[in-house]
Amino acid sequence: MTHHKDDAMLQYPRRSILKAGGAGAIGALIAGPMVANAAEPAQGTATMGVCYYPEHWPESRWPIDAAEMRARGITRVRIGEFAWTLMEPRRGRYDWGWLDRVVAVLGDAGLGVVLGTPTATPPAWLVAELPEILPVGANGQTKGFGSRRYYTFSSARYRAECVRIARAMAGRYGRHPAVVGWQIDNEYGCHDTTYSYGPVDLAGFRAWTARRYGTVERLNAAWGAVVWSQQVGSFDEVGLPVATPYDPSPAKLLDYRRYASEQVKLFHDAQVQAIRPSSPGRFVTTNFMGNFTEFDHYPIGDAIDFASWDSYPLGIAAGRDDPRWDRTGYPDITAWNHDVMRAISPAPFWIMEQQPGAVNWARYNPVPMPGMVRLWAWEAFAHGAAVVSHFRWRQGQIGQEQMHAGLNLPDGTISVGGREAAQVAREIAKVGPLPPTARGDVALVFDYQTVWMAEIQPNGAGQQHLDHVQSWYAALRGLGLDVDIVRPGADLAGYRLVVVPSVWIVDDALRSALERCPGTIVIGPRTGSKTADFAIPPTLPPGPLGKSLPVRVTQVAALRAGTAIPVVGTDLAGSAHGWREWLDTALPVLARYDDGEAAVVGSERRWYVGCRGDATFTRALMKAACVKAGLTILPLPDHVRLRRRGDLQFAFNYGPQPWNAPVDAGPFLLGGRRVEPCSLAIWRAGRGMAR
Ligand code: GAL
Repeated sequence: MTHHKDDAMLQYPRRSILKAGGAGAIGALIAGPMVANAAEPAQGTATMGVCYYPEHWPESRWPIDAAEMRARGITRVRIGEFAWTLMEPRRGRYDWGWLDRVVAVLGDAGLGVVLGTPTATPPAWLVAELPEILPVGANGQTKGFGSRRYYTFSSARYRAECVRIARAMAGRYGRHPAVVGWQIDNEYGCHDTTYSYGPVDLAGFRAWTARRYGTVERLNAAWGAVVWSQQVGSFDEVGLPVATPYDPSPAKLLDYRRYASEQVKLFHDAQVQAIRPSSPGRFVTTNFMGNFTEFDHYPIGDAIDFASWDSYPLGIAAGRDDPRWDRTGYPDITAWNHDVMRAISPAPFWIMEQQPGAVNWARYNPVPMPGMVRLWAWEAFAHGAAVVSHFRWRQGQIGQEQMHAGLNLPDGTISVGGREAAQVAREIAKVGPLPPTARGDVALVFDYQTVWMAEIQPNGAGQQHLDHVQSWYAALRGLGLDVDIVRPGADLAGYRLVVVPSVWIVDDALRSALERCPGTIVIGPRTGSKTADFAIPPTLPPGPLGKSLPVRVTQVAALRAGTAIPVVGTDLAGSAHGWREWLDTALPVLARYDDGEAAVVGSERRWYVGCRGDATFTRALMKAACVKAGLTILPLPDHVRLRRRGDLQFAFNYGPQPWNAPVDAGPFLLGGRRVEPCSLAIWRAGRGMAR
């Protein structure tokens, strides 16, 4: 990275900092330096931000909004990410006047501006000029100009256009004293746009397969093309794996997913490179989505200063449809996504968009329970976030998303969520800087490719990989532990407990990281069940792990929903649900199914688990593993979760009953021993649940 932090610091006009201090008491307390650099989020001061669309409001409103933001303790504001047509109404005719004025107004109020590149919404003139950029759905239909994200990642010509606008923006604002950083594009893959099946995609995929395999013989072998006469005689005969009567080759499908994922990365990198040289000292990030797995996020993490994501806890909860969490979100799912951000990039992450009230886009759109907007912000900070930025400043009056709440109502008055966000800003001032996040108690290996493979070859209904990994994560968190989600191949040596809920392709890096780890390791079903070419390993699953874990999986069953096979062992009881394997092994059996077959086997510190389990089983399994690993646990009710950040212990109560922190908890920085529903407490650890 070529960041020159000091440049930026020097350039920032002092008057703005002073002025910022005057904008409000909270602002003065938490303002900190107004200019960011790549290291900014590490400074430890929890920071509030907001997403703002000045172009939707009269200019006379901008200074009023800016002053009000500062008065409410907001110091970061993201703008611009959909405004390409205003920036460049006709090819090459840039109109920066309005943006110059917005940036100046925000900067003068003491706000650090995050500029979004507007590449999720190419202008109508550009689409008319270059229709090849439009994505094509699996049904063969081209998605037209309209709404947003109407482009395919495969289009090199579109990438070039994006580089052009990103460069132009960076050239104009890259060194602007008010600009603290960049968001590239907006939510890659949102609205089903990771995959596209048009002519440019086909050409791109063919070229990619030619590069990967070199000869068609290799491609035919890798894809198992002899099955059903699928061999091709040249790369020009390679088609996209779409619109076939029945399953295409799974290896081909996996390659298409890999190809599509790499296109996102290419698209991303091109803009990062366009911006960096003209914007020294400023960070570059992009805003990921929660529970979104269509492309591999890890390589993108390597090209940004920190990861950020858009947290809509009720939106995600609606997908699972359990009324219990309708108004709070699931206690472990938002947290899971925070922890994924730390796996993507070690630097403190941002919440680029935080739900401020009801959203408009989920199946049902309830209003959050009072207190949840505050709780979600603090929970993000507890997991290591540097900034929580609400979407958006004011609920819109026009266009799409009018029904989506903001920190203010459409008439400009503060909303319920706005009040809670302002409360968080006041509390930040009270709590002070937060310590850095330390290593967690447990590592959980999470792999995007496995998600794709489980979609390609589920082998039955209800086999969603994310549900499975999140069930292990939730069980660990329910025992009061902090979980570090890590990439396959990450160093595991420092962890006393490592869990691998399921990674289908075990490459050398993962195998050797596991072999070198002295801690307790729990390996879940289907791990090592495929080669890099999506074939069954010749030694049977768990493939390359067979050496250290001598097991052969000889049969598998995808179970009907509702089927529960009792599993019993010492300290292990519950039911297998969804997936069951038959294990051929001489290893000691730790738990058996009711027909006497082995369900969990293992030697001293290496266990293999041959099923997906219900919550009781998964919790018992994680508990037994923690005991084996010598970790201290604190079993929690399912609506309470803990999280350590340095020496601070956070407790979150997703309701509905109050929860009492352990008697020795304290001294409290926020809240007290009795943690009310939809509320939280922070105390200095070291006493009370120190681990
Ligand atoms: C996000 C998106 C925003 C806005 C928001 C509404 O997915 O990035 O632009 O649409 O959702 O919840």
